[in-house]
Amino acid sequence: MKESAKSVYKRDAINYYDQPMRSSRYDPVKVRWEDKICQDHYRKMVNRLTEAGEKLRILDFGCGIGYGYHLISNILDDDVPIDANNCKLLDKDDIEYYVGFDNNPDLVEIANDRYKDDEKVMIHQHDFLRDEYPAKPFNLYFSSGVPFSHLKDDEFKSLLEKIFGHIKSFERSAFIVVDVLGRYSIEWQSQWKAPSWHIYNMSFFSDGNDAEPIYMKFWGKELNDFVLEAAKKAGVKAECFDTFDRSIFIGRHIDTSNFNPNLKKMRAMVNMLFYPLQRAPLTDMFMDYTYVGAPEDVQEHYKWITYCWNYTLATACSYLDIPIPDWFKINEAYSIPASLKSSQEQLGRVVKDKERYKQTDDFRADVFEPLLGQLLRNIERDYSEGLGAAHTLISIFEVSP
Ligand SMILES: C[S@@+](CC[C@H](N)C(=O)[O-])C[C@H]1O[C@@H](n2cnc3c(N)ncnc32)[C@H](O)[C@@H]1O
Repeated sequence: MKESAKSVYKRDAINYYDQPMRSSRYDPVKVRWEDKICQDHYRKMVNRLTEAGEKLRILDFGCGIGYGYHLISNILDDDVPIDANNCKLLDKDDIEYYVGFDNNPDLVEIANDRYKDDEKVMIHQHDFLRDEYPAKPFNLYFSSGVPFSHLKDDEFKSLLEKIFGHIKSFERSAFIVVDVLGRYSIEWQSQWKAPSWHIYNMSFFSDGNDAEPIYMKFWGKELNDFVLEAAKKAGVKAECFDTFDRSIFIGRHIDTSNFNPNLKKMRAMVNMLFYPLQRAPLTDMFMDYTYVGAPEDVQEHYKWITYCWNYTLATACSYLDIPIPDWFKINEAYSIPASLKSSQEQLGRVVKDKERYKQTDDFRADVFEPLLGQLLRNIERDYSEGLGAAHTLISIFEVSP
């Protein structure tokens, strides 16, 4: 990238990541959907560490303003009722230290300012490909916000080998969270044939003028073998602990239409489910796309998720006496999982009990729709398969020396 374009990108990146909470960056889809799904998955990994008596020692690659620390320290406990003090999974003491690396000095400065009073947090301006890692052990090598999608395959391979070498040198097992762009997101359906391409104006924070190409690599389920191969080469044992697709129908480029002009603005509509006093256009939220161009298993998976999505919307519309699109039909070939059926029935019970909520200004906007939003979100959380069929593919590996 040219120097001038770089500085525009950097300035816009800082403005983008350093937005206050409840801004467009931290919209309900990010906070209540994307982050929540990640945290629900991370919980299993974190529990595994704490149940083994370990404190978390985190190394965050491409940490930006230290969002990984925020994500992990704010995972909610699974089955504890939410009250003022007792709903977080981790106590302060459960994290021994968090080290963040980022090569953008301005983001590092913001991160250091943000966490200046927290002695567990250390953020360094550091190129994770080239610079040395601290000579202390970590049990969670973390990434979020797709920093590894910027890497060419040979760079990614050597990064993984470097991480595995670090794990090996301390003779302790660890987790590695690999967070990359999904190859088969509907956001870029026209690009499905190519695993990597140069993006113009990829960023949602771009002012539209810096049309410098940025290399990006998009991953499907081959990510698993890629990581395991690097582990083998580095002489460590690695196993996939969890893999999932995140942001199937609501990635940020669904609404920008930068790469696929045929999409509905689903992120905006899902945000409306969560905003108080705002009704979402439920009938417009039915998905009627085709997924031609993806491998067979990805297409089948998309059809199944689409059916669950539409079926849930149809059920919600029936509770509210809203007409559903003519083309949507019950498909006997699919059976809706019992847990999803039961959540839909709970939604129905809330409607029956609507008198209990008469103090709210708008039952549909304030009570019904946020619950529907959670139901749609849980389809993604519970039934995604880690095929790269979404904006982000996240795979967690357990590594032992
Ligand atoms: C999309 S941002 C994600 C930031 C943060 N992890 C989050 O979830 O918000 C990717 C970050 O990776 C950083 N990055 C990219 N390549 C890097 C490298 N070789 N070394 C260190 N940081 C890098 C960028 O500066 C950027 O802040």
